[in-house]
Amino acid sequence: MSIEKTKMNYDKDRPSASNALKIMDVTFRDGHQSLFTTLGRTEDMIPVAEKMDEIGYWAIEAWGGNTFGAMHAYLNEDPWERIRKLKKYIKKTPLSMLLRGQNLVAYRNYADDVVEAFVDRAAENGIQIFRTFDALNDYRNFETAVKAIKKAGQHFQGCICYSMTEQRMGGDVYNVEYYVNKTKELVDAGADSICIKDMAGMIAPYDAFDLIKAVKEVANVPVAFHTHFTSGMASMSHLKAVEAGVDILDTCMSPYAYRNSHPAIEPLVMTLLGTDRDTGFDINDLAEINDILEKEILPKYKSLLKDDKVSIIDINVPLFQAPSGLFANIESQLEDMGELDRLGEVYAELAKVRRDLGEIPLVTPTSRIVAIQTVNNVLFDEGKDEYSIISAQVKDLCYGLYGETAAPINAKLIKKALKGYSKGNKPIDCRPAEDIKPELPQVREEVKGLAVDIEDELIYALFPVSGKRFLKWKYGKEEPPASVSPITLEEALKEQDLIEKARAGKLVDPESINRGPERSEHVRAFGVYVENEYFEIEVDEVGGPPVVTYASGPLNQVPADTIVPMAAQGSIPAPPKAVQSAPTQAAPVAQAAASAQPQSAAPAPAQTSSANGTPLNAPMPGMIVDYKAKVGDSVNKGDILVVLEAMKMENALPSPVSGTLQAINFASGDSVAKDAALCIIG
Ligand code: CO
Repeated sequence: MSIEKTKMNYDKDRPSASNALKIMDVTFRDGHQSLFTTLGRTEDMIPVAEKMDEIGYWAIEAWGGNTFGAMHAYLNEDPWERIRKLKKYIKKTPLSMLLRGQNLVAYRNYADDVVEAFVDRAAENGIQIFRTFDALNDYRNFETAVKAIKKAGQHFQGCICYSMTEQRMGGDVYNVEYYVNKTKELVDAGADSICIKDMAGMIAPYDAFDLIKAVKEVANVPVAFHTHFTSGMASMSHLKAVEAGVDILDTCMSPYAYRNSHPAIEPLVMTLLGTDRDTGFDINDLAEINDILEKEILPKYKSLLKDDKVSIIDINVPLFQAPSGLFANIESQLEDMGELDRLGEVYAELAKVRRDLGEIPLVTPTSRIVAIQTVNNVLFDEGKDEYSIISAQVKDLCYGLYGETAAPINAKLIKKALKGYSKGNKPIDCRPAEDIKPELPQVREEVKGLAVDIEDELIYALFPVSGKRFLKWKYGKEEPPASVSPITLEEALKEQDLIEKARAGKLVDPESINRGPERSEHVRAFGVYVENEYFEIEVDEVGGPPVVTYASGPLNQVPADTIVPMAAQGSIPAPPKAVQSAPTQAAPVAQAAASAQPQSAAPAPAQTSSANGTPLNAPMPGMIVDYKAKVGDSVNKGDILVVLEAMKMENALPSPVSGTLQAINFASGDSVAKDAALCIIG
């Protein structure tokens, strides 16, 4: 790289570089997806959209990935509307989306008719660059999407998902040769540019250099590089990629950068200033955008930032060759099941399950498939054969419905997974979608009278449960819950203020204290001593006269929230209940997104049936997809009775006994707790 001292002014009028680095900004998609579980709202992009359009980005990524799912399910926003709105402000810079190939923006391969319609509508609404990937790097899953992208006259960027099986790039599967071959395949498929997509932030800087150099040698189109800051190496990898001649890098505006997100743009602009790779961006303009984001937008999202760790990096990523989202999935699944203490066992089992499944790259949806199957193995295999509960997605993978894996799948596992599999017990070797019949005719039938156009139908086709619920909100057939409505900056600041006051033990705002029902005649007063301080608390039994049990344990066993002045205990208390239910809904939304399940509210209570017989209990919390038998049907032990979705994976649950189905306790779409009696066999 050469440097010219004369080119070092900060404004954009400086002479342009001979080989200026191009930048795609990903703040509006991967940035908030990585930091705020994709809960960024369109209204929070608009205040800076016009200014962003002036920077000179190669593209702005604003759609796809998880945005489609999160918007309709948790924000009550029409995903299609976001492109149209942004397009009004971003007129010069192309809008980009992340397309999961035949998976579109969801978790399985869809039929060709759905893929064609989806790409057509995305392009029609304003997407010009389709960054397309397949979790298995099986480019047969691109065929239909690429035809549709080309037909719409738009840019097809083909991705290679970066994966490793060793501590650094190399080994038998994911070595330089693998990536060079994949690049050639993409060039042959008509890629207008190529992207090395390191979704986990695993790549080491010198590997990035070698990889970009090798790919540049065989690619006759621009090469982009996408990595995450998660493990702390991304800024270094960016610089090495620039030195290796990368054409396009992905960055975020600094308030949306780092942690699980991407390196920020500003330090990169400064680093390359005056060199032959100078971006040409005006630092002052970037600073202005940052100021708006920092002061007017970010306070609304601060509560979603997982800031319970001091460190902003996660070194588990290169250690386990897995994205940090996978660890989050595993942790929340184990937590829901009350088995968090088995985390270590699950991590230890992870590499084996991945090997059994053909060393697949770990990216949505394969990261979830591996994560949840590993949890199932650790929790349910004890005393049984391995893979005692195989998710429907693992069965589909074994059958070949996701495509060809980089290494062969364990033959014993294929045999076990495909025993009784509905499509047959011999894996396919054709393009997966050839095995899927057109889906739109049935979709149309199912949402007749609710969906108004093809865009509505696509929302339902991709997300049948939450999509249908969204369409009811959209057309006023159902009232959306308060948790999906936006909060204002004022509300966000007020909430922050309350939390800070509570932490300091100064919560005096009378509005925020939950006064509860009137004291009854049975109220009893107790004195509580905390070291040298004395408090009087009153206890009133809810729903009846008091039954007082005298506790003999030490005082600190008194439930924390029955003692009001918490600061007296000398430690920083959690915000009191009154604050958690303060005016905004940020917290419940975050929880809903974290559990990543399309549920409307709290899980339905486990119902008990009066029918006599043996219950089929939910082995894990989840959502009922459907029941495979009706009341009165006779069933054999081992017959699949219920399909339960947990962490987006479907688990087929067999009948524990033979008999007659006596009662069905839930309906499709219901959320159930662990151990809920799903049905009764007698
Ligand atoms: Co990413």
